[in-house]
Amino acid sequence: MNPRWTQVAFQLGINSNGEDPGTHGKHKTPMTDDAVSTIDRGLASLRETFLPRFRAAATEQALRDENAKILGKKGELTAILKELGKAPPSSRKAIGEKVNALKQEVEAGFEQCLRELRRKEREADLSAPPFDLTLPGRVPVTAGHKHPISIVREEVVAVFRQLGFAVYDGPEIEHEENNFTLLGFPPDHPATDMQDSFWTKSGHLLRTHTSNVQVRAMKSVKPPMAFIAPGTVYRRDDDATHSPMFHQIEAFLVDKHVTLAHLKGVLAEFAERLYGPGTPVRLRPSYFPFVEPGAEVDIGCVFCKQSDGTRVGCSLCKHTGFIEILGCGMIHPVVFENCGIDPEEWSGFALGMGLERIAMLRYGIPNIKLLFENDPRFLAQF
Ligand code: DAH
Repeated sequence: MNPRWTQVAFQLGINSNGEDPGTHGKHKTPMTDDAVSTIDRGLASLRETFLPRFRAAATEQALRDENAKILGKKGELTAILKELGKAPPSSRKAIGEKVNALKQEVEAGFEQCLRELRRKEREADLSAPPFDLTLPGRVPVTAGHKHPISIVREEVVAVFRQLGFAVYDGPEIEHEENNFTLLGFPPDHPATDMQDSFWTKSGHLLRTHTSNVQVRAMKSVKPPMAFIAPGTVYRRDDDATHSPMFHQIEAFLVDKHVTLAHLKGVLAEFAERLYGPGTPVRLRPSYFPFVEPGAEVDIGCVFCKQSDGTRVGCSLCKHTGFIEILGCGMIHPVVFENCGIDPEEWSGFALGMGLERIAMLRYGIPNIKLLFENDPRFLAQF
């Protein structure tokens, strides 16, 4: 039992069970005028002691604790108030008023001591020796750096700029026309399906490739032109080798008398500049609706390349010594027509590559997910 409570209880004639020792059970008798004076003495004693007790508190918490001992649910003043019921009805009002008056004094005393404590704290703060804001930090701050995708994007863009291509930007939310229709996708092509692309309620979609930029550029720029379009693309794909969001770079060139030989020349140059001199390139016929002929491009496998430049074959290139890096082809005459360019007068080539794949081949990264987890231990290696 709280010693202070004992003190007040004693003055009130209450034992440690909270009972008046002379009034057990059914023999309880209402308090007498004597009891009234006991309450009075209790109040008087509290009135004398509460301020010194508050002032002795050295911290805000100690002050609050002291305050709770008096005004809290089980506090001393509350205990006195509970005795009120036993006082003769004629004197209750007067005692109640006294208790309330004391309560207000205690509250005011508490507030005043609280202000005083805070003022002292602030003074101590202000007079303490000041911080030296120019001291170096204890934990070294390491500088961040570019993500491998950004590094590779800049490298690829730099190679194409050296070859005379300029950057053309396009939006990630696209009209179906620019993403599919004008590129010669038939309306029922599986890529246009709800299962394969992200559609908005307004009938737009998140572009599924950067080939939309071909359409946008050809509709608004007069040939000749040579552009590169890096960007983010989206597909409903999510497994060990696919991510619903990834990056592509498109490159296309429109001029008079452009042939497949020009395309091959650009590809060979690109492979050499990005993957080293003598990197072999091969084209395999393939189908994309917006090119004719179309091809997939392989380069010599970067994983099993020997110091003499030969490839011995590995599981990553399925023991062929070649690994696929992009799709390409000669721009389809229908695409030219769709974009208002005369296919009799102009010809051109286009190519598109996934940046994640280019980065994985460039750095020998085995799993695409590493590029999206952003684990600092992985990223610090580039
Ligand atoms: N847009 C194709 C894709 O996302 C890649 C591509 C293939 C782009 C052939 C081209 C191209 O420009 O000629 O799979």
